[in-house]
Parts: sequence; C-alpha cells; structure tokens
Amino acid sequence: MPEINRRVLLESRPEGWVGLDNFAFDEMPVAEPGDGELLVRNVFLSVDPYMRGRMNAGKSYIAPFEVGEPLQGGVVGQVVASRRDGFGEGDWVSGMLGWESYSLTDGEGVLKVDPDLAPLSYHLGILGMPGMTAYVGLTAIGRLALGETVFVTAASGAVGSVVGQIAKNMGCYVAGSAGSDAKVAFLTDELGFDAGINYKSAGSAGKAVRAACPKGIDVHFENVGGPIFEAALFNMRQNGRIVLCGMIADYNVEFSELPPGPRGLFVMIGRSLSMQGFIVFHYPELCREWVIKGSKWLAEGKLRYRESVAEGLDAAPAAFIGMLKGQNFGKQIVRIDEE
Ligand SMILES: NC(=O)c1ccc[n+]([C@@H]2O[C@H](COP(=O)([O-])OP(=O)(O)OC[C@H]3O[C@@H](n4cnc5c(N)ncnc54)[C@H](OP(=O)(O)O)[C@@H]3O)[C@@H](O)[C@H]2O)c1
Repeated sequence: MPEINRRVLLESRPEGWVGLDNFAFDEMPVAEPGDGELLVRNVFLSVDPYMRGRMNAGKSYIAPFEVGEPLQGGVVGQVVASRRDGFGEGDWVSGMLGWESYSLTDGEGVLKVDPDLAPLSYHLGILGMPGMTAYVGLTAIGRLALGETVFVTAASGAVGSVVGQIAKNMGCYVAGSAGSDAKVAFLTDELGFDAGINYKSAGSAGKAVRAACPKGIDVHFENVGGPIFEAALFNMRQNGRIVLCGMIADYNVEFSELPPGPRGLFVMIGRSLSMQGFIVFHYPELCREWVIKGSKWLAEGKLRYRESVAEGLDAAPAAFIGMLKGQNFGKQIVRIDEE
C-alpha cells in the first residue's frame, strides 16, 4: 500500500481572476478502502473551465468546492485496492475524483476504461467530457444537417477542436476563431477547417466572421462570449441555431463588472433564430454514443487530437490558470504519476 497522499486544496475563493494563492497543498496518510470502496492511483487529471465556477460560493448546476478541501475533477487512474464488486486491482478507471495522488471512492460515477481503445488521457479529452460536449451540442442542440455552415469559438481547444472535426466529418463548411496564428494554422492545416480567425489580431470581428463564412452561419457554437459572439450573431442565416456551450470570457469577472450584451439580439426575431444552452451530462445516451463513434473515427484517422501536458500534481493550479488564459494548445491535462 502507498503511504502518502498529496492533495491540492482550495485555500480561498477567488475574487475576479483566480491566482496561485487560492490553492494550497497538504499531505495525508493514504486511507485503506472500507467495504464497498476502492482506492485509485490518479495518473491523469483534467483541468476544465467549469471548475472556475465551482471555486465561487453559491448555487449552480454543480456544488461549489469547499474551502480547505481538495478540488475535484475528471481523473483517469488505476485501482490499487478494491473492496467493491466489479472493480479489481489493476483496472483502469475514470471518474470525478480529487486533485490528489490517491482517491478513495465508493465507485459512484466511476467507469472502467479500456486502455487498448486509445491513450488513457484521451478519456479526459476527445473521448471524455469535452468530446461528448461537442457531439451533444452539435447534434441535440444545433441539429446540424449536411452541407450547413458551422462557426465555433475557442476552436483549437478541447471542445472546439472536436466540434470542427465532427462538423467536417458530417459534410459541413467549418470556420472558427482562436487566440494565436499558430492555433489558427492548426485549425486549417491539421484539423481541416475551411477558415480560421485570430480574434486577437483580426480587427473588426464582424468583417472577419463575414469573410470566414461568406454564406452566413447555420449553426454557431459559442464557447467564449463578447465581441466575437456578437459578430457571429449578426452573420446568422435564416432559421440558424446558436449553441450556448460556454462563456469563458466571463468566468473571471465579478458579476457587477460584466459588460451588458450581447448587442443585436433583435436579429434573432427577423431571422427566426433559436439559442439554447445545455449541460453535457443531461444527455447520457449521446455521451455513450460519442465514445463509440469517436473511437471509431480516431482509429480510422478521421479525428486529430492535440494535448498540452503539465507534469506533476504541483503543476495543476498553474495549468488550470494557464488554460483559462489561453496558454493551452489543445486539451490541457496534468500527468500526476509517470509510471
Ligand atoms: N455546456 C457544457 O456542458 C460544457 C462542457 C464542457 C465545456 N464547456 C465550455 O466550453 C468552453 C471550452 O472549454 P474547453 O474545455 O474546450 O476549454 P479550451 O478551449 O481547451 O481552453 C479554454 C480556451 O478558451 C479561450 N479563451 C479564454 N479566455 C478567452 C477570452 N476572453 N476570449 C476568447 N477566448 C478565450 C482560450 O483559447 P484562445 O487562445 O483561442 O483564446 C483557451 O485556450 C468553455 O466555455 C467551457 O466552459 C461547456
């Protein structure tokens, strides 16, 4: 049995931008599993934008992190001891576990993963929650049809990069925006996007979106908010669908400081647009469907995937903050254990 469990705790709730001082570390003895429990050695940890919301107090669709307690996130790890039926030592699993080197769990929400299906970390990205989000958003919410035009923001990231590739595989025209020339080149040269915009250097967002989507947009997949969202809105076609997936530009801004907007919602009326938000886990059937379809497309070479990997549990807070600032290129994960 391992002896020491290193943990990342929420030290304090951020006001505005999250900083390294909002996190603390401690070490505890590793607990032995009781009846019905299993002990997991955490190997890969996912850092995701929604975790910023969980650092705030107050009600949301998911409970806040508690100050003084370990943060939680998507983890892939290996069972080191099990007293729960259905799980044995050596099994690879994924689940919502702690930011820590070892997690004790009753197995609620923990799934076995097949290490031969794809590299293990993919279950936190393209085959995990972000990939599922792309699939649910485009199909159930965007009702995407063959030959339509899709525009996606934060397009080179974990969700956006999969959105664009699913839409290409479904025979659509795809454009997206990202925060550097290298990320835009990745969209067009490696992922097969038809056009890309560096929103930081493009000048007028409206003109840039119009040039990238000359026929207008049928399905807009929004991950960011702000000026690029307004530009997409004004370029929507008749009966277009706006998929509200995320608003990362707002996550580190105090509510009273948020700018009003988006401007131009009146275009939704004349063009009969619909706009709908969603939470990926409200669509469990589609999530399962994506793991089957996504792994098949990966094996057939119809999907490309890029990760940024931070090394060691101590690097998790900086990796999380860096992802919120756009320093990640592709899905940001943390490798906790090298073995
Ligand atoms: N609804 C759901 O169920 C669900 C599930 C998962 C994720 N989401 C949402 O999906 C979005 C993307 O998540 P992800 O995991 O794929 O993250 P990601 O795209 O891998 O990483 C976040 C990216 O957001 C971009 N960004 C950050 N601040 C920005 C700003 N002010 N303006 C423009 N871009 C900004 C950065 O890319 P650039 O360098 O391009 O700026 C950064 O790399 C988030 O809003 C997240 O909350 C929703």
